Amino acid sequence: MRRLIFFIVGALASWSALAQAQPADAPDISDKAALCSACHGAAGVPTIANVPVLWGQTEGYIYLQLKDLKNNVRASPLMNGIAAGMSRDDMFAYAKYFAAKPWPNLNQPAAQSEVARVALVANSSIGCTGCHLANFQGNSSIPRLAGQKQSYLLASMEAFRSRTRANNPGMSDLMNAASPEDLTALAAYLAGL
Ligand code: HEC
Ligand code: HEC
Repeated sequence: MRRLIFFIVGALASWSALAQAQPADAPDISDKAALCSACHGAAGVPTIANVPVLWGQTEGYIYLQLKDLKNNVRASPLMNGIAAGMSRDDMFAYAKYFAAKPWPNLNQPAAQSEVARVALVANSSIGCTGCHLANFQGNSSIPRLAGQKQSYLLASMEAFRSRTRANNPGMSDLMNAASPEDLTALAAYLAGL
């Protein structure tokens, strides 16, 4: 747990230091952001399986992911190339732009009671909401999970578990404390919130 807290606190500290260094005249990013909608969706609803919602995601988290995707710390065949050419100001501007949008409704059904029960047991043993906060809304560099696309939630948790997604070893350790069945239930539960 000490190691986990170190990761989280480190991420938060570096995000707030960078946020303070942000120039007041960040470039208008809305034209460039139109390119993102090809996959992330014109009205914020992703058009392709395994693509996450960006609209309304937390600002610090979006910035840190773009940085990790640019530096190949987080491997993604589609996103590594897209992030490769981004400047730090671009990444700040994308984060600010998408975080300010309203979270879209993907019309995913609420999990059935047995599925929700399994997810809530996993939450109480691993303490997801200790970091992802009440109702899984996230904040700053902690991502929102409520209403995220189900196929993406499952793929991202499985990627942490197998350490294919290697940009946060703390999340990988936590996902290894859950069973594959827990992750399936959590993805359905979180998507339906
Ligand atoms: C060709 C499709 C495609 C396009 C275009 C695209 N993305 Fe993505 N994006 C993805 C996929 C797929 C993922 C999930 C990657 C993974 O599984 O690790 C992703 C993930 C992300 C994430 C991480 C979100 C999270 O919840 O972890 C961010 C941030 C992001 N994209 C930003 C952008 C921005 C900004 C643009 C436009 C400049 C963009 N993307 C354009 C496909 C795309
Ligand atoms: C100690 C704090 C902590 C705990 C506990 C925690 N998380 Fe996380 N989680 C994080 C952080 C920080 C990230 C962002 C990781 C990164 O930098 O990519 C994250 C990322 C995620 C993501 C990826 C989101 C995305 O958009 O790609 C999912 C899904 C997730 N967590 C689910 C869970 C679930 C489910 C639990 C409980 C079983 C849990 N987390 C427990 C801190 C935590």
